Amino acid sequence: MPDTTVLDGVAHEPGVAKPDPILIADGVVRRFGGLTAVNVGHFEVQRNTITALIGPNGAGKSTFFNLLTSFDTAQEGSGTFDGKPLRKVSPHKVARSGMVRTFQLTKALEGMSVMENMRLGAQDQPGESLLTAFVPPLWKSREREITEQAHDLLHRFKLYEKRDDSAGSLSGGQRKLLEMARALMSKPTMVMLDEPMAGVNPALTESLLEHIIELKDEGMTVLFVEHDMHMVRRISDWVAVMAQGELIAEGPASTVMQNAAVQDAYLGAHHDTDLGEDL
Ligand SMILES: Nc1ncnc2c1ncn2[C@@H]1O[C@H](COP(=O)(O)OP(=O)(O)OP(=O)(O)O)[C@@H](O)[C@H]1O
Ligand SMILES: [Mg+2]
Repeated sequence: MPDTTVLDGVAHEPGVAKPDPILIADGVVRRFGGLTAVNVGHFEVQRNTITALIGPNGAGKSTFFNLLTSFDTAQEGSGTFDGKPLRKVSPHKVARSGMVRTFQLTKALEGMSVMENMRLGAQDQPGESLLTAFVPPLWKSREREITEQAHDLLHRFKLYEKRDDSAGSLSGGQRKLLEMARALMSKPTMVMLDEPMAGVNPALTESLLEHIIELKDEGMTVLFVEHDMHMVRRISDWVAVMAQGELIAEGPASTVMQNAAVQDAYLGAHHDTDLGEDL
């Protein structure tokens, strides 16, 4: 079971302050034409925990993720990551500051080998500099370092044998593992995962869950979006719930899923997610 003691004294209410937040969002609004996709008053993620972001389809979870990682820009609001302001920072800079997110493998990345994908993940490391790129001796030793790091991660994610295969030839589950391994190449302090279990068969689900727990054991903070409530219950220290763009509940999984507003949000959305045995 995850260690939730650090959050024991925290009230179970949306927007509540945490003892040591690594990520803080404040007054974040994102509109698409007449639609307000995200309107989050305040949200904090406690350092070195696993936090799940749940909510019915269209609740604004992915949009909120894009805003937090600077892949999209809010019309209003501000945020800090590890004490540094997030506003008007490029996704690249956010990644270098230690926050990384996984992405579906795009067509271009599918055409590259597993190893090439891993190398690309290294370019967001905080130590990457132009100097290294222009001084061949530094560049060579850097190359070796990157190769070693990639091999270590590929062993850990059981993809080493596939290192020269094209990423497009991997199964759905293996791609998810590659996305995570590639994200770790940047040596992040916070990892953002949007639906890490989607399309993964049950055999690999277990290993993905263990990998996520390992990230926390290594000191990282994890924020993930997931529809599968059984997974959410198993690995989350804390759960935040969005509905219609707003944060409507926060707390441990068991508490949040009994919350009337949460149950209404899922029922109102005619969502087929099973909130679990507590309902
Ligand atoms: N680029 C965009 N242009 C217009 N509307 C958008 C855009 N991106 C998202 N939306 C709308 O914003 C709302 C929130 O979408 P979002 O993808 O963030 O929801 P979600 O919670 O991630 O849903 P799901 O669980 O289905 O992934 C939806 O109504 C969606 O149609
Ligand atoms: Mg989404």
